[in-house]
Amino acid sequence: MSQVPTIALNNGNKIPVIGLGTWRAATGVVTQIVKDAIDVGYRHFDCALVYQNEKEIGEALRAKINEGVVKREDLFITSKLWNTYHKTESVEKGIRRSLTNLGLDYLDLYLIHWPMAYIDTDELFPVNPDGTPAATDTDYLDTWKGMEGVLEKGLAKNIGISNFNSEQITRLLANCKVKPVVNQVECHPYLTQKKLSAFCKEREIVITAYGPMGSRDRPWAKPEDPVLLEDKKLCDIANKYKKTPAQIVIRYQIDRGHVVIPKTSTSSRLTENFSVFDFKLSDEDVAYIDRFDVGGRLVALKDRAHCPNYPFDIPF
Ligand SMILES: NC(=O)c1ccc[n+]([C@@H]2O[C@H](COP(=O)([O-])OP(=O)(O)OC[C@H]3O[C@@H](n4cnc5c(N)ncnc54)[C@H](OP(=O)(O)O)[C@@H]3O)[C@@H](O)[C@H]2O)c1
Repeated sequence: MSQVPTIALNNGNKIPVIGLGTWRAATGVVTQIVKDAIDVGYRHFDCALVYQNEKEIGEALRAKINEGVVKREDLFITSKLWNTYHKTESVEKGIRRSLTNLGLDYLDLYLIHWPMAYIDTDELFPVNPDGTPAATDTDYLDTWKGMEGVLEKGLAKNIGISNFNSEQITRLLANCKVKPVVNQVECHPYLTQKKLSAFCKEREIVITAYGPMGSRDRPWAKPEDPVLLEDKKLCDIANKYKKTPAQIVIRYQIDRGHVVIPKTSTSSRLTENFSVFDFKLSDEDVAYIDRFDVGGRLVALKDRAHCPNYPFDIPF
């Protein structure tokens, strides 16, 4: 059985330090990619209802379980509550949609995808008459009560948050029964999240780093945007360690005590991105990469900045 190193969560459970990202993994290829990933040794998969590919991921998980390659309990499956299910009583509907899609009876980790809420509907992207997202002011504290409910029912083994800022976390911690185990946020050398990482660590919340390789496939990328994996200073470090730039940025997260979820839909890159357990960055090189930070947020969702609870309008 594959032995992926794990990090302990604040409830004593464990999370594998590397998982496969699945945002924009096309439905035509993702089943094969997830099967290949399991063969390579990945056990942790980062999914979300809004990625609209959970059914195809579920097919792969079922196939590998039926083949006897893995057991359900060997896998760590994360999904995320979409913005349209933020009312306390709607959270169960949201998780059940993901569970049905994935063909599972529980998730290992369920996250509130964003602190912002949309109107309650089964449509993923409800809009106002003027075309803007139909946001509401549903309080994420009410959403969290629903998250505690699905935890209690055993539909998720662990619950957490994503894209929450420090003020939102403080308010949540002051008002919850169960502490979130994880805050999944954008993190890479151009947005190192030093302050949020230290803040979460003090509160025993593990950071999961999304976009660790610079999220090149983001739909709003412009041709002139800098490409992280082609950064000259990063390439120099990669040469020094005889590793690829992708392996360096993945290891950078692990060496900071973060979980990391690099995405690829390219079979050969699965092995490359997973081959990060035969080396470690020196403390000096981690500190050097820390200095690449330019506050370069790639998933800023500026079109949603008007929504109540938009998280990126304070320093961290
Ligand atoms: N919570 C949230 O709000 C949130 C937001 C964004 C992302 N996420 C999660 O985080 C995961 C990772 O973030 P991401 O997908 O935005 O970006 P990412 O993992 O930083 O980068 C993915 C891009 O890098 C390419 N790539 C992968 N391996 C490579 C390699 N070894 N060399 C060169 N290029 C490589 C991929 O291309 P190919 O696929 O063509 O190989 C893809 O274009 C997502 O998939 C999702 O699960 C969560």
